[in-house]
Amino acid sequence: MRSLFPVTDLTKSAVGDEDPSRPLTDREWTLDELADAYAYPTGLPAGAPWLRANMVSTLDGAAQHDGRSQGISCAADMRIFGTLRGLADVVVVGAETVRLEGYRPARAREAFAGRRAAAGQGPAPAVAVVTGSMDLDFSLPLFTEPLVPTLVVTGAGAPDDRIAAAGKAGAEVVIAGEGTRVDPARAVRELAGRGLTRQLTEGGPRLLGQFVAAGVLDELCLTLSPMLTAGDAQRIAGGPGGAVPERFFLASLLEEAGFLFSRYRRTDS
Ligand SMILES: NC(=O)c1ccc[n+]([C@@H]2O[C@H](COP(=O)([O-])OP(=O)(O)OC[C@H]3O[C@@H](n4cnc5c(N)ncnc54)[C@H](OP(=O)(O)O)[C@@H]3O)[C@@H](O)[C@H]2O)c1
Repeated sequence: MRSLFPVTDLTKSAVGDEDPSRPLTDREWTLDELADAYAYPTGLPAGAPWLRANMVSTLDGAAQHDGRSQGISCAADMRIFGTLRGLADVVVVGAETVRLEGYRPARAREAFAGRRAAAGQGPAPAVAVVTGSMDLDFSLPLFTEPLVPTLVVTGAGAPDDRIAAAGKAGAEVVIAGEGTRVDPARAVRELAGRGLTRQLTEGGPRLLGQFVAAGVLDELCLTLSPMLTAGDAQRIAGGPGGAVPERFFLASLLEEAGFLFSRYRRTDS
């Protein structure tokens, strides 16, 4: 892995080693180095959320292959995926991704334990599933065996029996909208109100598109996979769109084996 941008600062802070005999490029970064490189911003107002997304796309914009993202990912992408989880208070994910990708509870990782304890975080991030239908299998480990209770984010009109089933499984139900729809900005606020301010969304594209349209996405960690797939796969953010394109600023760019790991922020500070 090597840093392409910013060349000096990120390399120094991420690697923390200016020994000229130790190449700064083309070696696997430790999880600690990756965690430094992807640290959440400091100095935000108390209780203010920071919502980052982590997504992977092919060169031609496909967000999945054969219905999953695994086929367009790589080992380094998965290390960054794990690092971003290791830094987050909560992983926010759409119900379809949970169903298709067989989501399990987030693990406690030794590599992040000290950092999490120092930041006052639990051993692993909570997973927050956004759903209107509540059509989720509450007998799965995601709901019955998490280290920290899984959250189910839904609207006030969600079916009562499904709300009861979620609660019985041990999940916390968060109401963040009217009817069965979740208001994405309200979801961010509701989670932040529970102390979950370091937010990470892993999509999918339909959910991410709503965060983008609502103007609540602060940062995008985008892996560009050196593959072409053609076809009619979703791109990373879907939905109605139509909003004026919003400019984001490149914060960092890493490379390994032709994969580019970019990080864009809404503000350039
Ligand atoms: N490339 C990547 O980085 C990446 C990342 C994640 C996923 N993916 C891929 O993307 C695909 C799945 O993504 P997707 O876009 O189809 O679905 P998704 O965004 O994961 O989930 C959509 C579902 O989330 C719930 N939802 C979303 N917005 C809602 C709202 N405002 N109110 C209430 N519920 C809401 C609904 O669940 P209910 O149906 O339960 O109401 C909806 O059907 C899979 O192929 C997956 O592999 C790719």
